Amino acid sequence: MRTFIIRARKGTTRWEQIRGNIGTREHFEVIAHSVINAFFISQGFREDVEVYIVLDSSENFPHTIKLSSAEGLSLSGFHEEAVLELIEKALKNSSGLQKDETRKISDGLHINGFGFEKLVKGLLESRPVYLLDRKGENIQSVQFEENPVFVLSDHLAMPKNSIKGLMRHGLKTMSLGRKMLFASQCVVIIHYELDK
Ligand SMILES: C[S@@+](CC[C@H](N)C(=O)[O-])C[C@H]1O[C@@H](n2cnc3c(N)ncnc32)[C@H](O)[C@@H]1O
Repeated sequence: MRTFIIRARKGTTRWEQIRGNIGTREHFEVIAHSVINAFFISQGFREDVEVYIVLDSSENFPHTIKLSSAEGLSLSGFHEEAVLELIEKALKNSSGLQKDETRKISDGLHINGFGFEKLVKGLLESRPVYLLDRKGENIQSVQFEENPVFVLSDHLAMPKNSIKGLMRHGLKTMSLGRKMLFASQCVVIIHYELDK
C-alpha cells in the first residue's frame, strides 16, 4: 500500500465552494492534480493507493477525505472534474459529522471528522511516515519500509509547529532535490522510485 496525505491549508469543508477554489489563490487544482497522479497510469488504475485530503478551512474542525483504490474507489475519469465530483459528494454527505467520526460515503470514499495531527499520529503507530521536505534525506538513499505514507502540503508551507510533535512520534523527512515542485509532481516521482 502507498498512501499520500495532502494537507490543503485553505481547503474548504463547504462543498459549494470547492469549484470556486480552482484557479484562485486557494489553488484547489493542486489537490485534483495530486489525486489524478496518485491513482492513474496510462490505461490503468493503481489498485494499492490511498489518498487522504486534509481540509483545514472549516467552521468547526478539519475534515479529512479518504480515497482508497483497494476499497473500491471509482473515479469517472482522469480530469479535474472527476476529482471535484468525489470531493463534493463526500462533503455533501457530511452534514452533522461529529468530531472524530468516520463516515463511509461509498466504496473507497470516506470522510473523517478530524484533521492532520490525529491522522498522522494514528498512521505512525503502524507505518513509516515520510514528510516531503527539501531539507530531508534524499529519496535515492531512503531504504523504504513496507506500506509507506507520504505527507505533502498544497501550495502553502506546512506549519512548523504541527511537525515538531510528530517528529517525536517517528515522522521522517524526505527530499526530492533542491527545486520546489508541485505536490502532484512529487507524487509522480515517489511512484517512480517505488515502482523501480
Ligand atoms: C508547492 S510545494 C509548497 C510550497 C510552499 N510555498 C512552501 O514553501 O513549502 C508543495 C509541497 O511539495 C513538497 N515538495 C515540493 N518540492 C519538494 C522537494 N524538492 N523535496 C521534497 N518535497 C517537496 C513539500 O511537501 C511541499 O510542501
